[in-house]
Amino acid sequence: MRTVAAEGLPTQASASAVVLLALEPDQPHELFAAGGLMGLPDEAVRYFANLLEAGELPCQLGKTNLFHQVPGISAKCVVVVGGGKLKQFDERAAFRAAGAASKRLAERSRDIIHFDFGRLEKSQLEAAVAGSLNGGYGQDLFRAEKNLKPANAIAWHNATANGLARGQILGDAILLTRELVNLPPNYMFPEEFTRRAANVSVSSGFELEVWDELRLRREGCGALLGVSAGSTRPPRLLVMRYRGTKKQPPLALVGKGVTFDSGGLSIKPTDGMLSMKCDMAGAATVLGTMQAISRMQLAAPVVGLVGLVENMISGSCLKLGDVLTSRSGKTIEIHNTDAEGRLVLADVLNVALDEHPAQIIDLATLTGACVVALGLDISGLMSNNSELQSRVQLAAAQAGEEVWPLPMSEHFADQIRSKVADIKNVGEGRWGGAITAAKFLQEFVADLPWLHIDIAGPAFADSPKAYIDAGGSGVMVRTLVNFIETL
Ligand code: BES
Ligand code: MN
Ligand code: ZN
Repeated sequence: MRTVAAEGLPTQASASAVVLLALEPDQPHELFAAGGLMGLPDEAVRYFANLLEAGELPCQLGKTNLFHQVPGISAKCVVVVGGGKLKQFDERAAFRAAGAASKRLAERSRDIIHFDFGRLEKSQLEAAVAGSLNGGYGQDLFRAEKNLKPANAIAWHNATANGLARGQILGDAILLTRELVNLPPNYMFPEEFTRRAANVSVSSGFELEVWDELRLRREGCGALLGVSAGSTRPPRLLVMRYRGTKKQPPLALVGKGVTFDSGGLSIKPTDGMLSMKCDMAGAATVLGTMQAISRMQLAAPVVGLVGLVENMISGSCLKLGDVLTSRSGKTIEIHNTDAEGRLVLADVLNVALDEHPAQIIDLATLTGACVVALGLDISGLMSNNSELQSRVQLAAAQAGEEVWPLPMSEHFADQIRSKVADIKNVGEGRWGGAITAAKFLQEFVADLPWLHIDIAGPAFADSPKAYIDAGGSGVMVRTLVNFIETL
């Protein structure tokens, strides 16, 4: 879907629909002093003022109201979307309000939708434009009759060319990430991810290096190959280099790309396995972010690395008690084949060190324990460097995405000592499982500033929200782009 700058007044647009933002004011009459209800003709103001008085115009964030034939407005259909309290309106609210309006309108086919949110700050406009793209698309990739039907185009009023272009790039990157996650595992596997990454690298302008199975073996990636051993689909490791303009060591972005996680011999129950096509969300987030920063031509160099495997069961799969030799040389005793993400990341993090990065950020749907700790909507942060962690927290706050740090106390590392190898792949007992997993990863990042983002909760949703369908969420793309802009 394309976004364009709208010409003329929203009230005169002959569009399929016009979306206006309503912000909850302290005093009712202030409703028409901000957002998209500002500057409406008198008859439209009277119409909405009456509705407000009757309590029929809720302004809560993400609430949508559809009206037909509003006096003073040409478009047949008007959606008033709530943006929450006027004073609390921010990037999060902008993204969600625009998304909710798009999603509501996507219940039917539309040609052009006009959006007017009034004059927003640059970062809020970007978030709103990205949200308006995001809301129109669903997870029903294989349904003949789509649940959500994205409009042919979106036209924004009161938008600067730059804000619109950046919003479109962010929206496209989120949609790319979501689509990769939403594709079923018989369509999305290591070679297919690689093919799509190759297309993105050409169309948006970064370099792509592909390691096939032979190369992985020659490089000694025994941990990643161990996870892949049960699958008939060959693994891949991708190195994506965006050079930028600044001469400085790159940021390394590392992603877990398990295209399906059956759990291996430590097999998952049906309920837990059903959503495990989402286990490559870290890799998809890295690819989406690489697309965004190269299209924006940001200054800082970034190298994206993803490890792509299927975690399956067969006569050649990992066994409990197996010992793997990782690329770093560290040996790992397998106590649970379902703790596979950390094995893949162990080798990808080690490859990342060869790029001499200034810092490393990894993204992974790593542990159910993180979801227990923080719930479905918050990503867990674990780091060996408080400055890096605070900077990413700030970037997330500016994007309106929720993150929360977990403590990396030393004693968690004791839990992964093994009697036969250097380390084992799960902790003693299940308490603090998100942190023991992070402690395992820390073994492979040397002393570089490193941040691990566990997205097991927010990366994939079982139920829809007002502003986005269920399925892949594209979470963290905007946070990462914000962070990379500060480098
Ligand atoms: N991919 C899962 C984690 C996950 C769980 C992601 C739920 C998204 C939603 C991971 O590979 C896994 O299975 N982790 C185990 C680790 C355990 C065996 C130590 C878990 O969380 O149960
Ligand atoms: Mn697993
Ligand atoms: Zn997994």
